[in-house]
Amino acid sequence: MSLSREQMLVEMGITPIWVLRDSEPSAPAVDAPEAQVPEAQVPVVAPADETRPMAREKESPVAAPENAPVSRPALATLQPMAPVDTLNWPELARQVAECRACALCEERKQAVLGVGELNPDWLFIGEGPGAEEDVKGEPFVGQAGKLLDAMLASLDIARGNRVYIANAVKCRPPGNRTPEAAEMAACWPYLERQIALLKPKIIVLLGKAAVHAVLHDDKSLASLRGKRYEYAGIPLVVTYHPAYLLRNLPDKAKAWEDLLFARRLLREQANPELPF
Ligand code: URA
Repeated sequence: MSLSREQMLVEMGITPIWVLRDSEPSAPAVDAPEAQVPEAQVPVVAPADETRPMAREKESPVAAPENAPVSRPALATLQPMAPVDTLNWPELARQVAECRACALCEERKQAVLGVGELNPDWLFIGEGPGAEEDVKGEPFVGQAGKLLDAMLASLDIARGNRVYIANAVKCRPPGNRTPEAAEMAACWPYLERQIALLKPKIIVLLGKAAVHAVLHDDKSLASLRGKRYEYAGIPLVVTYHPAYLLRNLPDKAKAWEDLLFARRLLREQANPELPF
């Protein structure tokens, strides 16, 4: 079932529906060669494991039974990351799939590199895979992902259409906890390489973990949003993580403002002469 843009905005909790005075027909997809994802990057669908909760969202954490043994990383199996700064997509995908640079590799089903166009206008960066993403091998496929898709649709874009979606860490943190600073630092060269290969025109950081990973800033999102940042010369904005928005519905309107701000920055690049 495909929803209309109005239905998407209603889904995002953004009503009454706002119509931009400068709204234009949706831009054609970027002419990446058929917007194809290299074979190694196509999400691998693993058999669903019904014994694990299928919700990444933080509002339903999986409570560890009391006195449950704490899983300890088998440190002996960790291996330093080989340099990634010259890798192409298939090489990067292979290295991420085999990565053992931090303890998150111990409990993952598979590493989740990212999904979308390889020549995108937009790059959205989230936190890390949850249970469903760990199974499916694709970012944002749970409830938060549905909201992210609605957010994209309200901008007339979609995963695979002018958009790439990645995460600060490529492996699921056990119990859907927030990735630790050391885990994000260990995974950073992959994200850095992804950004260098993608060359997006605008980056949107979804939530605190992404902000920490890319901007190394731990201030509150409320204080960071609404401003233009840059990463490697690429304009960047900060907004709330969709999982947070699912629990804090009034902030969806702020996220919508952030997305409009990001779109304005994107359009300014295309038409620097025009007032937006
Ligand atoms: N939350 C994230 O930050 N990333 C995902 O891939 C899924 C949920």
